[in-house]
Parts: sequence; structure tokens; C-alpha cells
Amino acid sequence: MVGAGRMGRAVATRLVGEHEVVLVSRRPGRMTDGEGRVLDVGSDPAAASGCAIVLLAVPAPEVAAAAAWIAPHVDRTGLVVNLATELPTADVAVPGIRLVGCKIIGQSTQIERGSPAALIAGSATRTERDLLSSALGRVGVVIDAPEQLAAHVNDLVARRVIAAQLDLAAALDESGAPPQAREAALGNLAVGIWGAVASGNTGPFLTRIVEQLRTPAHSGGPRSHDG
Ligand SMILES: NC(=O)c1ccc[n+]([C@@H]2O[C@H](COP(=O)([O-])OP(=O)(O)OC[C@H]3O[C@@H](n4cnc5c(N)ncnc54)[C@H](OP(=O)(O)O)[C@@H]3O)[C@@H](O)[C@H]2O)c1
Repeated sequence: MVGAGRMGRAVATRLVGEHEVVLVSRRPGRMTDGEGRVLDVGSDPAAASGCAIVLLAVPAPEVAAAAAWIAPHVDRTGLVVNLATELPTADVAVPGIRLVGCKIIGQSTQIERGSPAALIAGSATRTERDLLSSALGRVGVVIDAPEQLAAHVNDLVARRVIAAQLDLAAALDESGAPPQAREAALGNLAVGIWGAVASGNTGPFLTRIVEQLRTPAHSGGPRSHDG
């Protein structure tokens, strides 16, 4: 794993224990993963030697530099993986390595907690996807689809969810909710309701509201004769 930031830590949390994980970044140090284990982060790119898969968990503008940094040490059969959502893999040319895209539909904190992501690996061959599936199964399911799908879905979801959150925050302010109530509503209640509805684990209160909002009258569709 190159890069020990949010996504590097989340993926490492899922993989440590099942695979041998070696972490490198520009600066060495120590990191505590999501399960409280202390992991060493090295700064020697030679750590890539002997790795079947090298995951580049660095920001998009740093992918080419990170790939060039480890390239001299990657085994001939090693697969280097571009995780940067916004960087088309075809735009990166680093001689001497096989670079494939594996774009994550998911968010680092959720991955760290074990919520499955979807990993879009359309630029990889079938054999490479199988390798990624066996290595990253604890992160999510590997899918054969165009890699730009991940950027599209991530942008769509981020925009809609952020808009909803801003709207909700404004409505709470208008209702005169005190700061502690506002914080609990946004950070606890809203997050819990999202998860409960997404997983279908709703009690009577939420089930009633879901049913009301799914009726055509609420969704803007045609009304029934009796209104
Ligand atoms: N966070 C998410 O939920 C999420 C979701 C989907 C996809 N991703 C993808 O995951 C990638 C990483 O995102 P992130 O949120 O983890 O970013 P981040 O928290 O900023 O972490 C980036 C890490 O990369 C290291 N780094 C930067 N440039 C490097 C280089 N040239 N060589 C080696 N290490 C380098 C940084 O360490 P130093 O600066 O100390 O060297 C840092 O540890 C991005 O491409 C993003 O598109 C993230």
C-alpha cells in the first residue's frame, strides 16, 4: 500500500490479518488502524518488491509520482493499482509497470467499519480482476464496468447527500433547535435513519414514513381519484 491516509488506512484495516500488508508513504511513521492495531509505515519504495499487488492510495495528482517511485522495485508480475477516483488510468504512463484502475464506490470510514464497497475494475483483464477479487474481497466486490462510473456515482451521491444535509441543517435552524439538539439530529439521528432505511432495518416509525413518501402523491406522480 502506497499512502497511509484515509483510504490507505481503511483498506489496510480490512486486509491486515488476511494478507501480508506492507505500508509505505513519503514520510515514515506509525499508524493505528481501525481495529486499534499499530502498523508501521515505511518510506522505502523497495518494500514493493515481492508484492503481488501494489495499491496506490494517494491523491490523483500524486499517482504518477508514486507509481514512478515504486516502479523500479515492482516484480515483473506485480500489478500496480490506481485507486484515484478522478484520475483516468489511461492518462498515466509509467514505463516498466502494469497499471490498472480499481475505482472505489465507497467512503473510507465506512470501509474501515466493514461496510462493503464496490470496486470498478473495467480496465483490468479477467485474470487481473480475479486476482483483485481474491485480494480485496474484504473491501468489496470487484466489478467489470467502465472506471469513470465510480467518479460519476461518487459525484452524484456526494452532491445529493450534501444538498440534503444543508437543507436539513437550515430546517433545523429555522425550527429553533438548540446546538446540542441540532448536532444530535445531524450526526446521530440522520446518519442512523440513512443506514436503517438503506438496509431495510426500520421500526414502525420509520416504516410508516417510508411508506408515506413512496406513495405517488408524495413522489410527485399521478394522484389517485380520491386524492
Ligand atoms: N477517502 C475516501 O473516502 C476515498 C474514496 C474513494 C477513493 N479514494 C481515493 O483514495 C486516494 C487517497 O485518498 P485519501 O482520502 O486516502 O487521501 P489522504 O487522506 O490525503 O491520504 C493520502 C496519502 O498519500 C500519501 N502520499 C501523497 N503523495 C504521495 C506520494 N507521491 N508518494 C507516496 N505517498 C504519498 C500521503 O502522505 P504524505 O503526504 O505524508 O506523504 C497520505 O498518507 C485518492 O486517490 C482518492 O481518490 C478515497
